[in-house]
This record gives sequence, C-alpha cells and structure tokens, in this order.
Amino acid sequence: MECKSFVEEQIAQIKQTVGEATAINALSGGVDSSLVTVLGHRALGDQLRTVFIDSALMREGEPQRVVKTFADMDIPVELVDAQEDFLSALAGLTDPEQKRQAVTDTFYAKVFGRLVKESGAKFLFHGTILTDIEETVAGIKRQHNILAQLGIDPEETYGYSIIEPLKTLRKDGVREVCEFLKLPADISHRIPFPGPALATRIVGEVTRERLATVRAATAIVEEELGDSGAFQYLAVLLNDRATGIRDNKREFGQIIVVRCIESTDARTATATELSWDKLNRLCERIVNEIDDVNRCLYDLTPKPPATVEYI
Ligand code: XMP
Repeated sequence: MECKSFVEEQIAQIKQTVGEATAINALSGGVDSSLVTVLGHRALGDQLRTVFIDSALMREGEPQRVVKTFADMDIPVELVDAQEDFLSALAGLTDPEQKRQAVTDTFYAKVFGRLVKESGAKFLFHGTILTDIEETVAGIKRQHNILAQLGIDPEETYGYSIIEPLKTLRKDGVREVCEFLKLPADISHRIPFPGPALATRIVGEVTRERLATVRAATAIVEEELGDSGAFQYLAVLLNDRATGIRDNKREFGQIIVVRCIESTDARTATATELSWDKLNRLCERIVNEIDDVNRCLYDLTPKPPATVEYI
C-alpha cells in the first residue's frame, strides 16, 4: 500500500463527503480510532468534534491518558461521562452477543444519539477495519462497530451517516499509515484494544466490581508484558470460582486468565512462548495483588479455534 496516496485520497474524500457539515467521532485511544481522528482533523479541522466516551469499561487511567496524547498533537478531545448508561445496559446480561449488543446500542443510539442531537453532526467517523467487516460478514462475530454490514441503516436508525476511512486496511496497514504520519509511538505501537473494551474480557455479568478486578489484572499484565514484543496481551475474568487456601483459611476465589498472542492482523493467532519466570511472576502478582483472585491461568489456545477476546 502507498501510504501517501492513501492519506491524500482519504482526506480528499472526507472533505468532499462532509462539505460544510459538522462531524463527530468517538476516540477510544486504540490505533484505529486514533488514526481516524487524525485523518478527520487533517481534513476538517474544527468541523470535527472528537469525544472520548468514558463507558466505565476502559483501562486504568485511560481516559486521561488519551486526552493528553491528543492535546499534545493540538487535537482537542472532550471527555463524556457515560458510565451509568453502559453499566445499566449491561446489568444482568451474561450472553456474549447480548452484551455486545448492549454496548453497541448504548454507544450509538443512547450516548451518540444524545451527542449528535446536541451537536447537530450529520456524520460519524468510525475506525472499522477490513478484518472487522470480514468477520462480521462471515458470521464469526458481531463486531461492535459494524452497522451497514449488518443491514442497519444508521441514517434511518440513528439519524446520521457513518464514514469509515480505514475499511480497506488491516491492522498492519493501519500501523504503517500511523508511522507514515509520524504519530507518537504511543499510538502506532499501541496494542489492539477492542471497542467494547473490558466487557470483552469478562465472562458473565459486567459489574463495577468485576470491572475493577479485570482492570487491576490488565494493569499487571500490561506492565509485565509491555516489553514482550507480542501482538496483544490481556487479562480475562472468568465466571467461575475455585477453591483455594490463604492464611490457612479456605476461600472460594476468582479466576483470571492471561492471554498473550503472536499475530500480524488478528485473523489468526498463536500463544506467545513466555518464559517460565515471566509466567510465574505474572501469576504471583495477580493472585497476591488482586483481592479475591486465587487462580491465574495462561491460555495456550490459538485462533482459530479460539478468538482473541473472550466474548
Ligand atoms: P477476536 O476476539 O475477534 O479479536 O479474535 C480480533 C481482534 O479484534 C479486537 N476486537 C475488536 N476490536 N471492536 C474492535 O474495535 C470489537 O468489537 C472487537 N472485538 C475484538 C481484538 O482485541 C483482537 O485484536
């Protein structure tokens, strides 16, 4: 792919599509939505309003970190607190597809519906990439960001049109364009993080308490594996409990799975051969530093048959 012509074409196309209207986009801080934000701002300047939706599903300190990274590039990002919207939509749900659906609806209909109405935006940018479309079309998974591919007309359903400038790229192509644009390494080398965020890493119900557990495990995994060179690493909270013993007392604790994978585009993946020392350290920190967790497992399963995330 020719990065220069890709960037020029997208900027020209965005300008032409949006014209004098206003557009809005949600930045998650992931590499896809970050690139969309930068392309959108280069094309539209302050005709584009960028928001970071605090869904309560993000990692430790993530909202503030993302806002700062973009402020350093002179791109203003508004923080929108929608924690209660997401938590109430997810309450009581355990089915993975229903959870994804709840996040999608809350995101697009409720929170965006509100923002679009108050901003008068006619266009919404989204960081959909080719892999998302392929997997949705193949029926593998309902990706959080695919609407048109599912036969939903966003204009009719939600009152705005969607622009997806990255839909011809895979993850490796997205990173290439970020490097070409000299975006900070913090963005271009950032490990993938899914739109529905930590909700994809909680098997069973998503609650504030369970989010705090998986968030703490995620912080440890990211600290320990940040220099691993792996494609992606994450922590998952299972919905089971296991018997354990602590301070000579029996307990029925929670189970965290650590996943670390090698991949080029997330379509297929294999588990990283981490050293025994590293695995032991991860396990030790997770069971000692997080309340109520007494088991830590390392997932060896390739994709396929597993997926990267757990829902
Ligand atoms: P799976 O779990 O489908 O994940 O093997 C493949 C890659 O995609 C990320 N992922 C998502 N990204 N919205 C996104 O933007 C989503 O709904 C979503 N689900 C999974 C996942 O982290 C992995 O890198």
